Amino acid sequence: MLRLAVFASGRGSNLESIARAISHGDLDAEIALVLSNNSASGALHFAREHGIPAIHLSTKTNPDPRDFVSRMKSELKHHGADFIALAGYMKKVPSEIVNTYPNRITNIHPALLPAFGGKGMYGMNVHKAVLESGARVTGVTVHIVTNDYDVGPIVAQECIAVRDDDTPESLALRVLEIEHRLYPRALQLFAQDRITINGLRTIHQSPP
Ligand code: GAR
Repeated sequence: MLRLAVFASGRGSNLESIARAISHGDLDAEIALVLSNNSASGALHFAREHGIPAIHLSTKTNPDPRDFVSRMKSELKHHGADFIALAGYMKKVPSEIVNTYPNRITNIHPALLPAFGGKGMYGMNVHKAVLESGARVTGVTVHIVTNDYDVGPIVAQECIAVRDDDTPESLALRVLEIEHRLYPRALQLFAQDRITINGLRTIHQSPP
């Protein structure tokens, strides 16, 4: 059973899919807290509506970087979180937090890493870049967060075809459908303690 902290900046549809998987019994986890840098995010709204501790933490609430990190750390500790799922969190996780939760932070990315990742590659920018590149496939990646953007060990991927008439918006919609299925499944691998890491590769143990 994971005690999840979900970090999200926007709409929060991945947070909702995680919550749904938990309530359907498909993910052995509890959402201990939702943290957002955006006070108006759908994610915080969803958390409050569902009685989940909802924390707004940003450079506005805590301008001093040391305060910021120590508040993040203390909220995680206070709520007993043992795993962090980034679900549309558009900020870099401070390295002190990454080092405190080694291999216990995951991110979902709306493309097939290691392509179309890195700084500035988030949300619609990713889908635009995929279309501009002429790639015929795209997809979703769940990976472990390290101190560099989008380069940690890959836990799960699923691909879809790019269609001739795709726009960034149509691609985003199809990719999002996959995200909602893939992220809870990937988190369940951690809940069942089935992931070991070997360099950049992850090894998946068979189901118990
Ligand atoms: C998702 O498509 C997620 O993959 C992307 O932001 C969206 C958040 O949607 N994340 C990134 O681009 C991270 N680099 P949501 O708020 O509805 O879950």
